[in-house]
Amino acid sequence: MYLCFMKPVYAKDTLTITTHLVLPENTNTLGNLMGGQLLNWLDIASAIAAHRHCRRVVVTAAVNNVSFQHPIKLGDLVVIEAKVSRSFNSSMEVFMDIFVEHGATGEKTKCNEAIYTFVAVDQLGNPINVPELLPETEVEKIRFDGALRRRQLRLILAGKMKPEEATELKALFDRH
Ligand SMILES: CC(C)(COP(=O)(O)OP(=O)(O)OC[C@H]1O[C@@H](n2cnc3c(N)ncnc32)[C@H](O)[C@@H]1OP(=O)(O)O)[C@@H](O)C(=O)NCCC(=O)NCCS
Repeated sequence: MYLCFMKPVYAKDTLTITTHLVLPENTNTLGNLMGGQLLNWLDIASAIAAHRHCRRVVVTAAVNNVSFQHPIKLGDLVVIEAKVSRSFNSSMEVFMDIFVEHGATGEKTKCNEAIYTFVAVDQLGNPINVPELLPETEVEKIRFDGALRRRQLRLILAGKMKPEEATELKALFDRH
């Protein structure tokens, strides 16, 4: 049997920062960034972070937890900071912080967070194993811990896990 031991990857080594200028073709009739455009930018930034983690082809398995809290205006700069928060067998959760940099003043405000899930696949599209992720900072550790419960919730909703198997998620409710 051939066993492949993959070197763990530090969360910081997956960091991907992208910046986008909101142009007229990205906006609705109110001059606000369209949600679908932001989802596309998030997809690209998080796919690069997941690729940096495993160095393989990755596909978007799920778009999780995206909400649009504040309108983003024409001429603003959107800065997306994406990092893998945890890896499992073939899947990786990517956590994103989204900032808006005001075009005229340069003031930078955090406007949102988003989470996407990617799966590493081979040339036939079959899932393949990825390296373990090593969190270092306090925030990375908090997101790493929460990722297990979020994965269980996603898999229950996708019909891929029985609720009784989600022990960490269940423990969260039992505590309260
Ligand atoms: C994602 C994909 C590769 C999963 O393949 P699958 O045969 O369903 O695989 P499995 O059920 O064996 O699951 C493989 C991994 O995907 C994860 N996964 C599957 N469905 C998921 C979902 N809805 N949400 C989160 N993770 C999911 C599983 O948890 C598993 O992770 P693990 O290996 O870390 O434990 C497959 O569904 C696919 O190719 N989807 C299309 C991807 C794509 O085209 N994306 C762009 C959309 S436009």
